[in-house]
Order: sequence, then structure tokens, then C-alpha cells
Amino acid sequence: MCSNWFPTVVACALTLASPVFAQQTADDVAPEGASDGQVQALTDEVIAALKAKADGVPVKAETWMVAAANPLAVEAGAKVLAAGGTAADAMVAVQVVLGLVEPQSSGLGGGAFLVWYDAASGRLTTLDGRETAPREASPTLFQDENGEPLKFFDAVVGGLSVGTPGTPALLEEAHRRWGRSPWPGLFEDGIRLADEGFVVSPRLAGLIQVDADRLARFPETANYFLPDGEPLAQGQRLTNPDYAETLRVLASEGAAGFYGGEIAADIVRTVRNAPGNPGGLSGVDLALYQVIEREPICAAYRSYEVCGMGPPSSGALTVGQILGMLDSYDLAAMGPESAEAWRLIGDASRLAFADRGRYMADSDFIPMPTRGLIDPAYLAERAELLNDTGALTEVAPGNPEFDHALNWADDASIELPSTSHISIVDAYGNVLSMTTTIENGFGSRLMTNGFLLNNELTDFSFRTHRDGVPIANRIEPGKRPRSSMSPTIVMQDGSPVLAIGSPGGSRIIGYVAKSIIAWADWGMDVQQAVALPHLVNRFGTYDVEVGTSAEGFADMLGELGFEVNARDLTSGLHAIEIRDGLHGGADPRREGIALGE
Ligand code: GLY
Repeated sequence: MCSNWFPTVVACALTLASPVFAQQTADDVAPEGASDGQVQALTDEVIAALKAKADGVPVKAETWMVAAANPLAVEAGAKVLAAGGTAADAMVAVQVVLGLVEPQSSGLGGGAFLVWYDAASGRLTTLDGRETAPREASPTLFQDENGEPLKFFDAVVGGLSVGTPGTPALLEEAHRRWGRSPWPGLFEDGIRLADEGFVVSPRLAGLIQVDADRLARFPETANYFLPDGEPLAQGQRLTNPDYAETLRVLASEGAAGFYGGEIAADIVRTVRNAPGNPGGLSGVDLALYQVIEREPICAAYRSYEVCGMGPPSSGALTVGQILGMLDSYDLAAMGPESAEAWRLIGDASRLAFADRGRYMADSDFIPMPTRGLIDPAYLAERAELLNDTGALTEVAPGNPEFDHALNWADDASIELPSTSHISIVDAYGNVLSMTTTIENGFGSRLMTNGFLLNNELTDFSFRTHRDGVPIANRIEPGKRPRSSMSPTIVMQDGSPVLAIGSPGGSRIIGYVAKSIIAWADWGMDVQQAVALPHLVNRFGTYDVEVGTSAEGFADMLGELGFEVNARDLTSGLHAIEIRDGLHGGADPRREGIALGE
């Protein structure tokens, strides 16, 4: 029986969500460690939200809504919204709790992208809180003495991969622009939970167990995640007094208390003295960090404008390319059971990823054909390549229009899934879609002042050139690594109708594009759209979600000429539809919920 205790209810909700996910869910969180019997009480609202997810139906509300990856974080945001706070206020409360209860995915030591619809002005904008490469970083940072790329985890674990964090500055900037609630109050739940303790969730416990060897490398990290040498177990109560102290500093001093003073000094010391793999982050890098406002990237799809984060994220451009190429195909008539629909989606995605690999990076450092990449005429031309009956035998980047010659080589960067997504609508009609990350699960594994430091620099290409031709996403001092994060707001007739996004490394793009297709073309509600089993193709291999109905497409896709691989595809989609009230969907593959009023 499912009881009203946090770990059990989450496990129950995940297991009940859909029989097809049962096996994958068990894989995600297993092995479950012994519990010391401490548990987290749940409110009736959280239990109802978990039940809605388990039943596969959206949570409904009239006035405000928040959807994110952990019930405690969602509750913190809901409290702010219920008290009249804006989506920006609520986001701060959600993020500081996520950094405590889901520390492997996002936090103060990382970066984020935020898409904002401002109800008062009717305007969409984006904030770039991406990490930057330190001033000391060289293009060959991740190469050995022979110029060969380091092995991925040799680069990730330690100080070398740590970029200047952007999340604290982003929280402050969003609050400065759009907040109404007093700043210090937004830290109350995070401080209370860090002081009094929270219950380690099944997912966190499972991930610590899997990563124990890497977490054990650095004493501060090991002491927290592996007390007495043993991985924290599901159900254990965990306090984090250092994190509570960091939040107190942020609450009283603002982001300045993070980018200067003792916290900044500790970050620099931790990175530069990382045993075996020191990095080059300095106090100057921290002091110079800035959030950048950027124009949103919007691509037309059906009757919608699909809007999101432009460079240095590849998210909105690649999602927009996929959808733009599919716009002339009647996916609605084909339906989600059609192998032909998945052929088109898969090959459109491969074509988009070819352009992504060649052209997309931080446009403050390299010239990018940003508008050309989502120009409808260009996408119509690319879509003609899909007019065949089988899988494309060759996929190459196209030639989007640009105002001067471009000569880039194809990229070689690796992105493994972690990250977290927050969607919020407030009582004033503002909409927030924010994807937040420390990159790999547990980031660089370095910890200071109660939070983990990112490994975002490994989102850069490890190689600088290919056959003498430079790679757009190579490392340069001050540059922001290319991201796949795709925080999205879908607009129709000038109004927001959907906020959505996901974690998942470069598969984020496929998860978001698929969910928008399921919602826009196949008439699914937001819960059905995010739960729909995944089929994702980026570079040729068609990944189908193991243990789900997606595996049923494997033979058909194989006959069409695709190489097919069944595997876990652990997205964390959180979506809110804004039509006839608010409808929230939370990904059954993770522990999140949607709450509203
Ligand atoms: N590190 C994940 C992303 O930025 O796409």
C-alpha cells in the first residue's frame, strides 16, 4: 500500500504512473538503501499532485501553478505564489530548495537559462545565467600532452571543468526585474530545511550509490554524501548547516555575498587546490560575472510560435529547426503510433543536430547564422530531404543564409544528462520557464559551503580544430559553453499557452520537441505529452525508451534503415498549459509534481 510518507509515496506514484515505466523507474532509483525509519510528512496537496501524476492526469488550477522536480521545492514555490509573489519570486524559493534536496542536478554552483513572459508588457525575454570559462582557460584545456582529448570523467571530476557559476546572479537579476516579495523571505524554506533536515529521496540515494567512487575523491563531498564512508540511504534525514549559512549570506547580502567575500574565496580555493585536477577559476572571474539579457528565439510551428533560449544554448534553435522541418508534414493525421511519423521526427532531428554541431556556440565569441538557421525558407529546403521512404543514409549540415562566409568544423563535445526544469505561472499572468544545471550528475564533485560546483566547461568541445578547421564551440576565456537546455514558452496569437522544458543532456532537445508535437499535433494533455515514451535520434542511432511501448517501434525503425538502441531515457519534463485555466504535468520518470490554486 502507498502511505502518506514521502519516499514511499514518490516510489508508489512513480510505479503506478504507468506500467510501462515500472521497470525503468526501479532501475533509476535502485538499489534502495536501508532506511533509518525517518520520513517526510506530505501535505494533502502534495499527495493529490502525486496521485494525479500516478493516474496520468494533469493537475488543474485557476490562478497560479508551479511544476518542478521535487515536492519540497514545489511547495516552497507554491507558498510564495499563494502569498502574492510573482513567478520570479517563486523561482528563487524553488531553486534554493532544489539545490538542497536535488543537489546532483542544479544549484548555486551552476548556471541556468530563464525565459520570461511579462504579462504587463506582453513581452517575452530571456536571461542567460550560463557559466563562463575562466580567464585562464586555454582552448586545449581538455587535451593531454599529445593534444588528444582527455577521457570524459578525467576532465569532469575536479577543478578543471568548473566554470564561473551564474545561478546566484540570475536569481538576483530575475528578482530585481520581476520580483514583488521581499528577497530574504525567499530563502526561508531553504534555510529551514537545511537546518532541520530533509529526507533523502529514492532518486538521490540511488544516484549517490552509483557515483560513490567519484564522490569519495574529495573530503568535503565525501563527508556529506558518504558519511562514515557509506552512501546516504533513502529515508535518512540529512541536514546541511553549511548550505543554510550560505543561504543566510545570500538572503542578507544578495549575490554580492557569493561573488565576493568568504564564499568566493572558498570557491576559488576549492577549485585551484582540487587534488589531482586543479582548475583555473579566480576571484576576478567571480567578480566579473554578469547575467546577460538576450532576445528570445522563436520558430513558427502550426499556429504557434515556439520561443526559447538562443545562443549560447542550442536549445531553441534546434527544437525550432526540428519543428520547422516537420511543419509541412501532417503528423496529426499520422498519429503517435505511426512509424512514418517517427521516421520524420528522427531524421528532422538528425538534420538539426548536424547544423547544431557545426554552427551553434556562444555567439558573443563566434559569428553565427542565428536567424538563417530558423528561416522558414531554409527549413523548407532542408525538409525536402525528408521526402523519402527510409532513414537518411547521409546527414550533413546545411548552408543557412549568413552575411559572410563561415567555415567551421563539426563539433566534438559530450553531454551527459543531469539538470532540472522549473515551470511557473503566477497570479498576474507572468510565465517562467527555466532550466538549471550543474551539468553532469553531482557536477565536478567538488563541494564548498554546502553546495556542489559545476563541471559546465565540459560542454565545450574538447578538440579545437578538425583537419585544421576551427570548431565553433571550442574553449575561449570568458566564453559560455554551448548548451542544449531548452526552456520554452509556446505562444499563440501573442499569448503564452505552454511552458515546458527538461533535463537530459543533448536529448533535452528531443524530449521537448516530442512533447510539443504530442501536445500540439496529437491532442494530448500536458501529463500525457510528458509521459509519452521517448524516441530520440540525434546522431543516427534511434534511442527508444527501454521497458516502454516505444520499444515496439524498434523493428519498424530497423526496417526503415535506422540503427536502434533501447535504453533508459530519463527526462524530467515539467509543463504548464495555460488555456481554460492552468494544467500542470510532471514527468513520471522523476520525483517532481505540479501544484496550483
Ligand atoms: N549541461 C547541460 C546543458 O547545458 O545542456
